[in-house]
Parts: sequence; structure tokens; C-alpha cells
Amino acid sequence: MSSARTYDFVIAANRLPVDRIVHDDGSVEWQTSPGGLVTAMESVMRGREAAWVGWSGQPDEAPEPFLDNDLLLVPVPLSADEVAAYYEGQSNDSLWPIYHDVIVPATFKRRWAAAYEKVNRRFAQQCAEVAAPGATVWVHDYQLQLVPRMLRVLRPDVRIGWFNHIPFPPVELFAQLPMRHAILNGLLGADFLGFQRPADAENFLRACRRLLGARTKGDVVDVPETDRRVRAAAVPISIDAGGLAELAESEPVRQRAKEIREQLGNPRTILLGVDRLDYTKGIRHRMKAFGELLDDGRLSADDTMLVQVASPSRERVAAYRELRHQVERTVGNINGAHSPLGSTAVSYLHRSFPREEMAALYRAADVMLVTPLRDGMNLVAKEYVTCHEGPGALVLSEFTGAANELRQAFRCNPHDIEALKNTIMAAIEAPAAERNRRMRALHRQVTRNDVQHWAGKYLDALEHAPEKPPAP
Ligand code: ADP
Ligand code: G6P
Repeated sequence: MSSARTYDFVIAANRLPVDRIVHDDGSVEWQTSPGGLVTAMESVMRGREAAWVGWSGQPDEAPEPFLDNDLLLVPVPLSADEVAAYYEGQSNDSLWPIYHDVIVPATFKRRWAAAYEKVNRRFAQQCAEVAAPGATVWVHDYQLQLVPRMLRVLRPDVRIGWFNHIPFPPVELFAQLPMRHAILNGLLGADFLGFQRPADAENFLRACRRLLGARTKGDVVDVPETDRRVRAAAVPISIDAGGLAELAESEPVRQRAKEIREQLGNPRTILLGVDRLDYTKGIRHRMKAFGELLDDGRLSADDTMLVQVASPSRERVAAYRELRHQVERTVGNINGAHSPLGSTAVSYLHRSFPREEMAALYRAADVMLVTPLRDGMNLVAKEYVTCHEGPGALVLSEFTGAANELRQAFRCNPHDIEALKNTIMAAIEAPAAERNRRMRALHRQVTRNDVQHWAGKYLDALEHAPEKPPAP
């Protein structure tokens, strides 16, 4: 299919919205890709005539571009070596730890950095190929930070935005990166840079001043040795609240939520965790707190259960494999010590579920535990408050982007296990009227600031950059 220079709107993300799965019998299936970026962007892009440039999730394969409704999906090939060096190495073993407060140590390899540059160039070339004259190209996330500048060189006529779905680290951590200058210069190829929190945008601006000697005025950077100016500001992402609420209120999902409670033995309290199995999510801290509450006798497995859904993630990176062992060992220990006969204290589900099942789980849960040690936003928190009806409660780590907006949650510092235990108890024991009041406020917050609103705000900022857009 010829797609040369025909699309006015192009997005680039490491992953396409769908993952190509090749089964053992050779049959091929496309499934929704994991993670919050795809959850959010899939609903923004639905129904738009646009191109999405990204990887199919499989090494050594580059299917031809194909149409998914009005969206042209443009697969970018990655060899097995590039998957190991660009994706698992530089993106997820160098950048991810540095951008998440070094919860695990970062590893730097020159070979990984070289592969990152090579793959970013391929993405830039692919964007240059499909973008119409004067098009808007929206680049996403930490895997593609060199693309804006590379694309500007190839196509000075296009408008370039970049959005970071994860935190941007303080300069003291960012400065460790051997490719720190290349990243800052790469990003400064864009017209507008969007971040989850004002603190992330400030970290970026400070890095430009300290490491590039760039001048900044307010949220605008003067790009050194050019007459270009780039704006960097917070535009916090969200979810398709309307679509999800409709799904959660549908009869099949209501029924399924009831069924889940029955299947679990109608416990008085269902606690729920939903995460990619990632060390940033504070799953171990959450388990420790829950285990100790059972040990202390403040909770009983006879009437309280923790359902932990943990989708498999980045399983070839050592820190993720180690986390999986730790979590599974802990679940085993808690269940060994506390599960009643014929039931479990922790129900651990290490797989992905369809949207309907997730919505039913959110509806069924009395208390949602969102306890990351660091998270750019955390869409799970927003999904829970959108789906749940009645007196639910959200326990939310203050180290998430979502905590900036969801002020009526039960806030916690997951590092402080004693305080986390007390917060979980407070959420369980709060009077129904208080839980109702908090949930209503949270629900309103997310409904008013949904992902369509976010995309509108982002694109408006991009169009007017480096100036601020006029107030709506
Ligand atoms: P991240 O982007 O770091 O994975 P977010 O909380 O922002 O974290 O987004 C996670 C997204 O993945 C949410 O839309 C959530 O519903 C979805 N998700 C997480 N675990 C599963 C699972 N086991 N099955 C299906 N969807 C999942
Ligand atoms: C987070 C990142 C995304 C990433 C997703 C899933 O949401 O911000 O860029 O796609 O996690 O991770 P994966 O490595 O499987 O793509």
C-alpha cells in the first residue's frame, strides 16, 4: 500500500496499538498491546484518519502497512538484536530505571545506546515517509527521544510534538546517562514537549540549563545555536472515561461483577491490585503490608481477600524476572500462612484480561490499591474510580502523577509500611458516607478531564507553541 507523504496526522510510539502474536501452530493473531500508552492513545486515535508508526512486538518481522478502520498502521521492523539492545537494553534497562528514581540500578552499554540511535533514526525516516507536507507528527515516550530532532532534519516542514508518558527525572539522576546530551538535543527538535506533571517539565527545563547551558524563560527553552524556541509544559493524560463508564454500567459487566464476588466466596472486603508486573508499581510493598495486617490480626483471610492481577511484562530483563520470583514467593508465603481451606488470601492472576473482565473486577472491588514507588500517571487509578459504583475506596501512592489530580483518594507513602497498613485500614473502615463522597468527587474529576479533553489540550498547545494557547 502506498502511504508516501499522505497523512496530515501521524503518531509514533514504540508499539503499535496491536501486538502480533504468532502461536505455536504458526497461526497469527493481533491483540491489544500492553500498557497505559496504548490504552490512552487507542481511544484518541479511534475514528481519526491518521497513521500510527510503531513496532509489531515481534522480532524480525515487518508486515506491510495496513488499515485498521481509518487508521493506517505502519510496522517498523526490529531485528532480534535490536529488540535486545534498543528495547530491553537502552529503553528498559538504562532509561526506565533512571526515569523512575533508580528503584533498581541502571545499566549502561555503548552497544545499547548505538542501537537506540539506529532504531530512532528508522522511526524518524518512517514518519518522514508517511507525513504529508505541513503535517503534525506526535512522538510518544522515552523509547523515541531522538526522533524529534532527526525528523526535523528530514522534514523541516512538519510540526513535531512529543509526550512523555513516564516521569522525567531530576537532573542529578538524568546526568548519569552517557547519552544525556543526545537526548536533550533530540527532544529539542520538537515544537512542544508534554509531560505528566509540572515537576517533570521543570526537571527537563533544569536539565537544559545545567547540561546544555540553554537559556529558559518560563516554560520556553531557547535552543542553543539556533533561533528556535521550544515549550515544555505539563498536560496530564487520562482515560476514555465515557466509554469505560458505559462498559462498566452495561448489564453483562454488572452481572459479571456479582459473579466475581460470589466466585470469591462473598468476602466482606475485596482488595484489588492491577499492574504490569513492574518493580515501579510497589507490588512487594503492598503484599508486605497486606501480609502483616493478616499476621497482626487486624485483617482476617476469612472475610478479606486481595486479588492481584499482574500482567506479564519485559520478562527477558533480569530485574523483571527477579521481581516475578519475589512476588510469587510472597504470595505463596501469605497463602501458606493464612488461606482458609478451599479459598486463598491472595488470588494472584499473572495474565491479561479483556476490558470487560477488568471493568467487572473494578466494580467488584471494595478497595483499590495503587501503590507505585514512582509512576508517570497510573491509569488504573482513573479506571477504578470510573467503573466503581457505591462506596469504594482508592488507596493511592503520592508518587504517581494521578495523585496530583485525585485529591480525594486515601493517599499513602508505600515506603512507610506501617503508614501504608494504616491507610489500607482507614480505607476499609471509613464510613460508607465518606467513601461515597470521596468516590463521587474522584469520578467527577476523571469524567471532566478525560483523554479526549487531554488530546485537545495537547494538540492546542502544539499548534500554538512556543506561545501558550489562548485561554479556552
Ligand atoms: P503502565 O502504563 O505503566 O502499564 P497504567 O496504569 O498507566 O500503567 O496503565 C496500565 C493499563 O494496562 C491500564 O489500562 C490497565 O487497565 C491495563 N492492564 C493492566 N493489567 C492488565 C491485565 N492483566 N489485563 C488487561 N489489562 C491490563
Ligand atoms: C508504559 C510505557 C509504554 C509501554 C508500556 C508497556 O506504559 O509508558 O511506553 O508501551 O508501559 O510496556 P512495554 O515495554 O511492554 O511496551
